[in-house]
This record gives sequence, structure tokens and C-alpha cells, in this order.
Amino acid sequence: MKQRINELKERFASELSKVTDKQSLEELRLSFLSKKGQVSLLMQELAKIPNEQKKEAGQLINSFKQEVSARFDQKLEEMKKLEEECLINSAESYDESLPENIKKGSYHPITLVQRELEDIFGSMGFDVEDYSEIVDDYHCFEALNIPKFHPARDMQDTYYLSTRNQLLKSHTSAAQNSIMHKYGKLLKENGRPIRAVFPGRCFRNEAIDACHENTFFQMEGIMIDKDISISNLIYFMKTMLSEVFERDVTVRLRPGFFPFVEPGFELDIQCSICGGKGCPSCKNSGWLELCPCGMIHPNVLKYGGINSEEDPYEYTGFAFGLGLTRLAMMKYGVKDIRTFNEGDLRALSQFVSR
Ligand code: DAH
Repeated sequence: MKQRINELKERFASELSKVTDKQSLEELRLSFLSKKGQVSLLMQELAKIPNEQKKEAGQLINSFKQEVSARFDQKLEEMKKLEEECLINSAESYDESLPENIKKGSYHPITLVQRELEDIFGSMGFDVEDYSEIVDDYHCFEALNIPKFHPARDMQDTYYLSTRNQLLKSHTSAAQNSIMHKYGKLLKENGRPIRAVFPGRCFRNEAIDACHENTFFQMEGIMIDKDISISNLIYFMKTMLSEVFERDVTVRLRPGFFPFVEPGFELDIQCSICGGKGCPSCKNSGWLELCPCGMIHPNVLKYGGINSEEDPYEYTGFAFGLGLTRLAMMKYGVKDIRTFNEGDLRALSQFVSR
């Protein structure tokens, strides 16, 4: 009996290794484990052997049966897994007309830049905040020291909804007021500085061309605490830009006017293409405008519930508004802003994160 079982074991192993599909696996299973299968035949033979050998032979048959069924289960699992993998990789589940390199899917270049910046700011202790795309006039303008009919509104004409004074936000600065209210208590009661970045989609009524889109992305950031100064602003901006461009960057600040900061700046970085000598990419100036910023205006801190009328300079802070779309264009050498919204996978799937 022992020898019979050993032979069957070998036969089973060799047949199992030849099985390539589920049907032949099932056939093999039946030939061993069905009522008329090999294991049943062994059982019938058991009746014929002398009584004193029955116990041992019975155990041998049983353990053979268990081994066979365990190996079937295992093989079936392996085949199922393989089938799933094949399905995922097979052309059947994809549009055959897609070029080979874009079948796997990829992140949008703006998503890549946004995530990279979130990581960089996260490592510097900044919270990452999400904010709605539909806002009201107060948050988009008035809370930012841009009263009704202020000329600064002309630059930010956007899309207005017909209900409840709502509009599509024209800049990520629209979230500043809410974030100040959200974290102000922690700042005042626990001394936890407010450090937050808030990326988002912005909208403007623009005439579209290679440099202007009606839909684009920014990433705003604020830091508020006692004694925050322009040096803190420069330090954070330089550190962040060095990380993004993976080298030390030279920056310069020029005065710039934005009603919600005082003083306000345009932050430029030295053109990496010509090293500051001047070339077509930097319009021969040697510098690229990258990130408007400034010290948060006392009115904005007051509307945000940070400072009181009596002590308008108790806390100070800086704010910056990074053009994420612009940054993605510079980083990846995209010449036409429209590429980002056109949804052409041949263009959009080429980018990878570092
Ligand atoms: N919100 C401004 C815009 O979109 C950019 C900006 C300028 C943001 C200065 C800031 C800042 O936080 O300090 O034009």
C-alpha cells in the first residue's frame, strides 16, 4: 500500500505541474478525489488487506487525501491570482488605441508639484488646508482689505454665481480669514504659531493665451506668531525654493502692492537658464517673478480675529501666494499654460515626481 501511495504521489505531482488552466485542474481533482477517483480506489483496496495492516494503511491514505486536496486548493489560489494579474495587464481592460506608455495612468503635473510643496512645507511644520472653490465676496475681497469698488478688484475679475453673493475664488488668499479663525485660539491660548499652506484651484475672467488661463492653481501660505519679521519670510521662501529647484537659489525682493500685505513684495528668483545674465526665458532681465508675498496687513489680522483694536501689532505674520501652475511650467519646461487643462494624455502623462 505504501508503495502504491508513493507512486500515486509522484503521478499526482507530475500531473499537477503540467496543469495550465482551471478546467484541467478540476479534471485532475476529480480523477483523484471523486467517488471513482484514485483515493476511493485506495479505500476499496483497504478492505482487502490484512486486518493488522489496516490501521497504518488507513492513516496513510487519509494523509495522502489531505495532502492532495491542500495542493489543489493552493494551485487554484495561484491560478486565480495569476488570472487577475493577467486581466489587469491585458490589453482587454484598456483602450487599445492608447500609446503604450500611458496605459498605466499618471499624476497631473500640477498634482506632482503640489504634493512636493506640501511635503516641503509639512517638513517645516506647516499644516496643509483644503478650502472651497466657491466663496463669498467677504472672504475673497473684503476680509483681505479690498473693499467694494477698490481698483485692485479689477485684476481679479472672476465668475459670479447668481445666488447668495457667491463667486469662484480668484486667489487662494480667500482662505486666509477662515484659517486665522480656525487656528487663532490655539495661537493665543497655547502659543502655537499659525503655519499653514492652502493649495487650490483659482478662477479669473481672462482672455486665454499661452500665459493666461481662466482656471489655474495657487498655493497660499501664512505664518503668524509674535515677532515674525521679513527675515522669517525670506528664510522660508529661500528654503522652500531651494528644495523645489534642488539647488541654492538667489532671490530678490521688489516692492509690490497688494492690499492685504504691508509691506508687499514681488519675490524673484535668479533665472536658472542664463544664471542671471539675461535670456529670452527671463525677458533678458536675469530674474523670474515667482512669488508675491508680504507682511500681513494689520486690518487683515484684525478681521481674522488675531489682533484687537487696542494692540494691532501684538501678533505679526507673513503671507505668500505661489503660482503652482507657473511653478509647474518652470519646473517641467511647459511653454503653454493651456496644456494643463486640455486633458491630452500624451502631454500630461510624461511627468514624474522626483
Ligand atoms: N493673491 C494674490 C494674487 O493672486 C497673490 C498674493 C500676493 C498672495 C501677496 C499673498 C501675498 O499672500 O502676500 O494676485
